[in-house]
Amino acid sequence: MSTHALLVLYGSQTGTAQDTAERIGRQAQRRRMRVRVEALDSYNVANLISESLVVFVCATTGQGDPPDNMKTFWRFLFRKSLPADSLCRLDSAVLGLGDSSYPKFNFVAKKLHKRLLLLGANMLLPVGLADDQHDLGPDGVIDPWLISFWQKALSLYPPPAGLAPLREEEKLPPRYVFHFLDEVPDKQTEHLQTPDNKAPPTPLQPFPAGVVFNQRVTPPSHFQDVRHIEFDITGSNIQYSPGDVVMMRPCNAAEDVEQFCQLLKLGPERYFTLTPTDSSTAAVPAHLPQPCSVRFLVEQFLDISAVPRRSFFEVLATFATNELELDKLLEFSSAQGQDGLHSYCNRPHRTALEQHPNRIQILVAVVKYKSMLFKPRKGLCSSWLASLDPSKGDVYVPLWVKKGSLSFPQDPDTPVIMVGPGTGVAPFRSAIQERAAQGKMANVLFFGCRSESKDFYCRSEWEEKVQAGQMILVTAFSRDQEEKIYVQHRVKEQSKLLWDLIAKKNAFFYIAGNAKQMPASVCDALKEVFQKEGGMSENQAQEMLDAMEKAKRFQSETWS
Ligand code: 2AM
Repeated sequence: MSTHALLVLYGSQTGTAQDTAERIGRQAQRRRMRVRVEALDSYNVANLISESLVVFVCATTGQGDPPDNMKTFWRFLFRKSLPADSLCRLDSAVLGLGDSSYPKFNFVAKKLHKRLLLLGANMLLPVGLADDQHDLGPDGVIDPWLISFWQKALSLYPPPAGLAPLREEEKLPPRYVFHFLDEVPDKQTEHLQTPDNKAPPTPLQPFPAGVVFNQRVTPPSHFQDVRHIEFDITGSNIQYSPGDVVMMRPCNAAEDVEQFCQLLKLGPERYFTLTPTDSSTAAVPAHLPQPCSVRFLVEQFLDISAVPRRSFFEVLATFATNELELDKLLEFSSAQGQDGLHSYCNRPHRTALEQHPNRIQILVAVVKYKSMLFKPRKGLCSSWLASLDPSKGDVYVPLWVKKGSLSFPQDPDTPVIMVGPGTGVAPFRSAIQERAAQGKMANVLFFGCRSESKDFYCRSEWEEKVQAGQMILVTAFSRDQEEKIYVQHRVKEQSKLLWDLIAKKNAFFYIAGNAKQMPASVCDALKEVFQKEGGMSENQAQEMLDAMEKAKRFQSETWS
């Protein structure tokens, strides 16, 4: 009897869905299945009709959108021309990764599950809805979901007779061969290459943008180091609009690279090549030079200062030779060993573009926090950016631009109301600069920070624009007095102005910033404005907000 085949397809934005998909792949190997794990957009969807068993692992991003590496698949799957029974031979299951603090929780996975049902697929179990807000993190849902999945899948696709599953401590066959070279190669392949085509840069071919300046905008006495950084993008073919996002690939600090190599007893100057063991293994990424030195690999491609995922311990366990260490590593990779790992936290940072010909400016808060362990933790990208000093010679940052989710009205008379506390103001700075340059004067900005004298970003720029009649600025300094004053308090105070702009002049309303409580509180404040000024009930106010959202007159871009 031959082994059964499983296909695991993922749509992943930050890597968690990919990590989970690969974990399912290893579990399948242990259950003696032939398995392929692929990003949805690298897979030829037309082949889906000839698959027998497929698991989908899909994240949902901020506004209920699918991750970038499944957008093509998404468009294909929802074509009206697909016959209703196209997938009637398919056994399938969908595992979603989401965050219930966002309104469209696991929207992509739910919609995919429904669509597969409609196309005739046999769904083995209900859609799994993993939640970042769960006490145990997403694994709190993923672990029990996978137990049910394997029960169902193995009852339909049992392992061949006489082949027992591999135990956790038994090694899986290697997927890649790591071959060390005896000599240093002649040809120098390790540098950032400028993309040679006319297309804009991409994640795999970023543009090496020169750092023009890097200034701290908060006084040294303020707790938060916030940077204003400018890049030169001359010759990059980059085009962008307000609200787009600049993406960049950071480097690890030299001392961290040294420490990592020492821990793993790897010579940083040694060169290696990497090859997949067979055709079912994903190819080595094209942007990894071959041959490559250990130093370049660690410095450029590995996120060594991130909190390790559970899968890191699982993979490490397969290399452990000491039994005590093996036990500990297996515990860390098991469902029971998760408490310790979840006490860590990891805060991504966010950047936004500004409007200057051949320049990109970002406002970035340098992430630094104390965990329960050892030394203070630092955000990889923001700390690296802060360390770059263009006055000491040329410094380049590999970057590209991603379409943002915010869009602004074309009509010059349509007013725009923007609520952006903290670094949430960055996309609005870009929008206001562009709108002012186009003669669109109806801009209202609600800005919040701790103190007028410490973290009031871009103050002089706002003051100039207010003077020039290009915007109205409303500030909320939370810590300049006894009681906290936040942007949502100011929104309520400005109820007459807001009602006039929204109800009578069709204004667009935007929120950007930290996702914790702020966006929900601002929405509540806005609904109170509708109730007070428009004489509405709570339900009517909610309906008005929903209608605005549907018409794209209410948009938010939040992060945590
Ligand atoms: P705080 O730190 O004094 O609480 C930018 O970070 C600004 O957003 C700060 O003034 C911060 O105030 C404020 N902020 C914190 N939590 C908020 C919330 N739930 N709603 C609105 N603003 C908030």
